[in-house]
Amino acid sequence: MATVTEPPRSLEDLGLFHQDLFIGGQWKSASDDGRIEVKDPATGQTIANVAYATVEDTRNAIEAARASFHDWATKTAVERAAVLRRWYELIIDNVDDLAAILTAEQGKPLAEAEGEIRYGAAFIEWFAEEGKRIYGETIPTNVSSRRLLAIRQPVGVTAAITPWNFPMAMIARKVGPALAAGCTMVIKPASETPLSALALADLANQAGLPAGVLSVLPGSGSVVGQELATNPTVKALSFTGSTEVGKHLLTLTAGTVKKVAMELGGNAPVLVFDDADLDVAVTGTIASKFRNTGQTCVCANRIYAQSGVYDEFVDRLTEAVVNLKVGNGFDTSTDQGPLINEAAVMKVEEHVKNAVDLGGRITVGGSRHGLGGTFYEPTVVADATHEMAIANEETFGPVAAIFKFDTEEEGVAMANDTEFGLSAYFFTRDSGRVWRVGEALEYGVVAVNTGAFSYEGAPFGGMKESGIGREGSSHGVEEYVEIKYLCIDGIDG
Ligand code: SIN
Repeated sequence: MATVTEPPRSLEDLGLFHQDLFIGGQWKSASDDGRIEVKDPATGQTIANVAYATVEDTRNAIEAARASFHDWATKTAVERAAVLRRWYELIIDNVDDLAAILTAEQGKPLAEAEGEIRYGAAFIEWFAEEGKRIYGETIPTNVSSRRLLAIRQPVGVTAAITPWNFPMAMIARKVGPALAAGCTMVIKPASETPLSALALADLANQAGLPAGVLSVLPGSGSVVGQELATNPTVKALSFTGSTEVGKHLLTLTAGTVKKVAMELGGNAPVLVFDDADLDVAVTGTIASKFRNTGQTCVCANRIYAQSGVYDEFVDRLTEAVVNLKVGNGFDTSTDQGPLINEAAVMKVEEHVKNAVDLGGRITVGGSRHGLGGTFYEPTVVADATHEMAIANEETFGPVAAIFKFDTEEEGVAMANDTEFGLSAYFFTRDSGRVWRVGEALEYGVVAVNTGAFSYEGAPFGGMKESGIGREGSSHGVEEYVEIKYLCIDGIDG
């Protein structure tokens, strides 16, 4: 029998529930008193009315970030690490409340929400330590009276624009390195999911982060996002979201030549070779495809099975998908929650209809779920082809499209046949193939014999139109530092 965990009776009972802007260390209404409704995607109920920032609020937050920058940047790395460490500990202490807020606003199952909070917290912990290792270099001199150095310094005021699919972790992996490096940051969370961001700000404040170092401004892209991307005080912008919006932000940031980090769309291929362990391939494909109801930039979007295992793989994936339980994320037996909104369901419907019209064969699912609202059945479409929309665009939903290929060369060519290059997966037991295919795939992340690669200590980011820059690992800090060459003459007196 299903175990049901009650959603919090009232989110207001959770101390971390906030509906105001966090600017310069204070909670404030928007300057025009504007608010936006936040809905639980599982029920359609309004769960909050969050202040919606104006241009004036955005400029105030940027000014608070500018005013606090010098003091924060001139603290020692060890002092900054202590604040970040405390913030990490507070996040872990409050993991249950944070997970409940996340599930309420985003819909993902509670266990997945808890996983996201721990994953996000790990970035803050990791960068707290990495901040102590933002090293410079000494350069062998070309003039005897000179000594040459390269030092890394914080870029200054930075901004982050983050998506609704990971309301906590996508913030943590930007704010962790930024603050560790000595930058200050203004965050615009997605309008669908601002509550996790505001809860994080509360905990940063409790951890002793000085006022102004971090502000959180729920607001629209055309107001808050536009100001963050064009304001000359902001020196770097990090964005996670669609390639379309990323391209627009690149044109906006060009006006003031900001440093940019762009984590954009994916269209992830999975290659299942004839020699793969099919149990591992099915488990890995499910983990990648159905995580967060198919709503991640790294979700499998095109699944290529080699002809020798094609039929068996389709049957086994179908059997596994039949067993996925759809429901409210607060029901602890739920594997798959709702989609974020009606537009997301309509895109899934369009892709499934288009695939069926072009000869796709549905082996399970294929319709809205009986629970109504934005629930959709976990779906497998076999006999997919590259003429289908599903091959060319991210579905961002729970639909596994399976294509057939014959040779390794053909599989790799099909996998690379896209303008995207974020993540790819393949399953094989041939160690030579691991190297050949690993090197041939044009993706920033390639996972072999697993569907889950996420780790704060590894570099994450895309090639081609999937992005610029890397998050996580020591590379993640580079987005928030400038390299300065110091040429010191007069050494010989
Ligand atoms: C993403 O989908 O953009 C991030 C996924 C992850 O970090 O695991």
